[in-house]
Amino acid sequence: MRFDVLTLFPEFVLGLQSYGLIGKAIEAGRIELGSIDIRNFSRDKHRRVDDAIFGGGPGMLMTPEPIYESIQSCRRAESKVLFLSPQGRVLDQALVQELAQEEHLILLCGHYEGIDQRIIDHYVDMEVSIGDYVLTGGEIPAMVLIDSISRFIDGVLGNEESVTEDSHYDGLLKYPVYTRPRVFQGHEVPEVLLSGDHGRIEAWRQEQSLEVTRQKRPDLLKKSSDN
Ligand code: ADE
Repeated sequence: MRFDVLTLFPEFVLGLQSYGLIGKAIEAGRIELGSIDIRNFSRDKHRRVDDAIFGGGPGMLMTPEPIYESIQSCRRAESKVLFLSPQGRVLDQALVQELAQEEHLILLCGHYEGIDQRIIDHYVDMEVSIGDYVLTGGEIPAMVLIDSISRFIDGVLGNEESVTEDSHYDGLLKYPVYTRPRVFQGHEVPEVLLSGDHGRIEAWRQEQSLEVTRQKRPDLLKKSSDN
C-alpha cells in the first residue's frame, strides 16, 4: 500500500516515519509514504499557491494549477484521490477498512479557506472528514487516515495485537483489560480472568463488550440494530 500526501508541510507529514508502528512499517516496506510539496508546482516566482476568492469573501483559496500538477506527478491508473475536508464522508471503522483495500491513496491536504471547487469536482474521488469540527489544514486528518488504515495492512501490527479484538471492529467497544499486579492499591483483577477457563473468559469479555458499549456509546448499539 502506498500513500502520497500532497501538502504545504511535507516535513510535518514525514514525521510519521519516525513514530511507533507506522514508522517501523515504513522502514520494513509494508507501507510506502510519499510527501509532495504542492509549492514545488507553483508557477509563481514567489512560490505562491493561493489567491483571492472570486465573488469576494474573506481569506484566500488554494489555486487549482499547482494542485492539479501535484496530483499528476504521482497519479497511477489504480490511484484514488482523497481530499481531506470537513465536508467529506465522516471517517469510521467501515470506511477505514474499505480504504485499506486500495493500493494507492493520494491524500490532498487543503489550507486557507479551502481549494478551488473544480479540483474537487473533476480530480477528487472522495472527500473525507475526520469529524464534525474544523482543523487548520488537512495534514493531521491525512495522518489519522494513514494510521488507521495501516493497522489493517498485513504485517503492520505485531502478532500480539489483533485488530479483530479492538474497539469498533465488530461495532462494539473493547472489553476491559488488566495486567500484573493482581492487586493494585487494593483493587483486584476480576476473578474470572485468573480462572484459566477460556470459555468463561470469552463469555465474560463478550458480555463486558456489550455492557461497556451500552454505557459509553449506546448510539453504536442502535446503529448495529438498525443495520
Ligand atoms: N480539514 C479541516 N477540517 C477537517 C476535518 N474535520 N476533516 C478532514 N479534513 C479537514
